Amino acid sequence: MSTQAKPAPRASHTQGRLQQRRVQFDWSQTPLHWLPQQPFTSHFINEINLLLPAGEFWFCKLYNQALPLVRDAKLREDVQGFIRQEAMHARAHDGAIAEYLSAHGIETESYMRRMNWLFEVALADAPFGRRLPRLAQRQWLLFRLGLVAAIEHMTCVLGKYALENRRWDALGADPVLLDLIRWHGAEEVEHRCVAFDLYRHLGGSYPTRYYLMTISFPVVFGLWVAGAAHLMRQDPLFAAKRPSVLRPWIWLEWQRQAKAGLLPSVFWLAGQELRYLNPWYHPEREASTAQALAYLDSSPAAQRLAA
Ligand SMILES: [Fe+2]
Ligand SMILES: [Fe+2]
Repeated sequence: MSTQAKPAPRASHTQGRLQQRRVQFDWSQTPLHWLPQQPFTSHFINEINLLLPAGEFWFCKLYNQALPLVRDAKLREDVQGFIRQEAMHARAHDGAIAEYLSAHGIETESYMRRMNWLFEVALADAPFGRRLPRLAQRQWLLFRLGLVAAIEHMTCVLGKYALENRRWDALGADPVLLDLIRWHGAEEVEHRCVAFDLYRHLGGSYPTRYYLMTISFPVVFGLWVAGAAHLMRQDPLFAAKRPSVLRPWIWLEWQRQAKAGLLPSVFWLAGQELRYLNPWYHPEREASTAQALAYLDSSPAAQRLAA
């Protein structure tokens, strides 16, 4: 009988070193309906510019707090790379708000205020201004790291979808906006293991993971549809529909666009989320790093700086 001890499971499943690509986008030529003749999908996807920055800056703050707790050198390096990539994502979407959506007269402040409240008040270190006792602070950090891991599963799924959707190219999508979502999506695929590895390394359990996904999935897509409705309400094309997250029209139209291959459907997304609930799930098996790196090597925004 062998007396050799079983090797400890790897803390990090990220291939290589995560680097920050300091992208630049020139928004001067991008129309509001960046997918020609497809205003619904254009607004629906433009919404990520509103949804993501507050959350991604919050990821960075949280991960800076978690960093001293990481005992594995490679995982620590992954977390640092993750922070640098997410900070650049948030800055790129902030840039799209300032230089693209605002230039087209789109009001974003009221929605952004709600997002900031969610991350800076409700999900802050002192939630709703209440300082937590020392023992609860670690649990609160772990709970929020679990939320990030669940959200990062969604961003990996969406990133892979963006890399593989060919309908957008066939319809003549604006190359700058397409590059923004594919560059971001490719980096989400590239760093897909970090949040899950970190959560497990710090003691995150399966049951918690289970209920955090069941909370985060409806919240993220509820916020997404609310933001898309906010953009559509400002477009005279949709005035008669009075778009709102609480009205069936926007949900039904989303599924019609999905049938045409322009968006992932809510049912497909829900099916993708189910895999996260599998006790043997690991994001390593969810997507291909080689596919992500192939896109990043050709992304005009990422290449502009490399040049
Ligand atoms: Fe991101
Ligand atoms: Fe991410």
